[in-house]
Amino acid sequence: MPGLLIKHGRVIDPASGRDERADVLIRDGLIEAVGQGLDGSAEVFDARGLVVAPGFIDMHVHLREPGFEHAETIETGCRAAAAGGFTSVCPMPNTSPVNDNPTVTSYIVERASRHAVVNVFPIGAITKDSAGETLAEMGSMKRAGVAAVSDDGRPVMNARVMRRALETAKAFGLPVIQHCEDLNLSAGGDMHEGVESTRLGLRGIPSSSEEVIVARDLLLAEYTGAQYHVAHISTRRSIEMVAQARSRGLAVTCEVTPHHMSLADEDMPPYDSNYKMRPPLRSRGDVAAVVDAIAAGVVDAIATDHAPHAGSEKMQEYERCPFGIIGLETALGVALQVLYHSGRIPLTRLVELFTVGPARILKLDRGRLAPGAAGDVTVFDPDLEWTYDLDKSFSKSRNTPWEGTAFRGGPVATIVDGVVVWRRD
Ligand code: DOR
Ligand code: ZN
Repeated sequence: MPGLLIKHGRVIDPASGRDERADVLIRDGLIEAVGQGLDGSAEVFDARGLVVAPGFIDMHVHLREPGFEHAETIETGCRAAAAGGFTSVCPMPNTSPVNDNPTVTSYIVERASRHAVVNVFPIGAITKDSAGETLAEMGSMKRAGVAAVSDDGRPVMNARVMRRALETAKAFGLPVIQHCEDLNLSAGGDMHEGVESTRLGLRGIPSSSEEVIVARDLLLAEYTGAQYHVAHISTRRSIEMVAQARSRGLAVTCEVTPHHMSLADEDMPPYDSNYKMRPPLRSRGDVAAVVDAIAAGVVDAIATDHAPHAGSEKMQEYERCPFGIIGLETALGVALQVLYHSGRIPLTRLVELFTVGPARILKLDRGRLAPGAAGDVTVFDPDLEWTYDLDKSFSKSRNTPWEGTAFRGGPVATIVDGVVVWRRD
């Protein structure tokens, strides 16, 4: 292989604090050098006017394989990831069968090695069948390649099971990612509980359904000393509790989705299932709190919760529709708009949230542009004007609130192990 020389870009590598005009040379799949005026026999990628960042990592996606291949596959989901600037994705285990044992983990790893254009680091279940009762085979799943455990889509409701899960995961060096939702409080709900749900006559999911689980888990995380991560955090009180736990030195982290940082319950066109997900879009005040938390450094990662659902399921009447929206291809556009063009955070911080932030949580040897590191690079243009066209989406599913949205800023090229796997035409 001739190698790839990315020239004249603005290289932003939050892990090393680098933010300067430089070149990046990738050879044999690895970063060989980062610096000014690099040369060498390599294919040249002209990145003039563009940002050159470590490859983006999405620590929370649903690729639906095995079991729900009509909605997405590892191949199509990873193509969508590449088109969103992501070089690594972490698929949640709520497949069929659930990824709760090393056979399923190995199946995913094997399928990914054949069909995925980006890296796939699977997440294993916390409990068998994610049923919340018996612990899954964490040790053997870790050996098969899982980066963390989660019953995402469902919470671990039983506090005793959660305590044992934290202790066991700690023994294996695995972070525990919780989908925080008290199912008794959220039962029957279809959107955030508030004035909007009352106005629309829909049953509500109260903020407290998230917050009581966050509160309980923080106590258990402190008691066990385990590494604990809140998935798709969505309320002001949850943020406050996580911030307090962190200030006390607990190994607690959280992620925010593009939709929870940009949309409130009142933004939903009446009964539009492309705005239906779990946790639901919260109040305007919660959205502001989430953005403030990102700016204040309380949030570690932006994660899409890319949740494809087939049209036949998502186009039913609102109450019958499944929860979830796709998000891989629009994540950077939304984040740039809400966080960067608004003046809330500098580009280096935004890049951190997509790269070394999630890499640190999952202890992945990715997310930095150091010599010897994997040749994963995301090239983006923070000012590019483009419009999201679902007809050109790589995802098999169409459930997004951003169809037809004009964005300022987006990915331009995605490079995995030194190979350009996607490029904007
Ligand atoms: O909206 C959601 N969709 N939230 C989840 O936690 C699960 C996901 C899915 O799997 O569809
Ligand atoms: Zn979830």
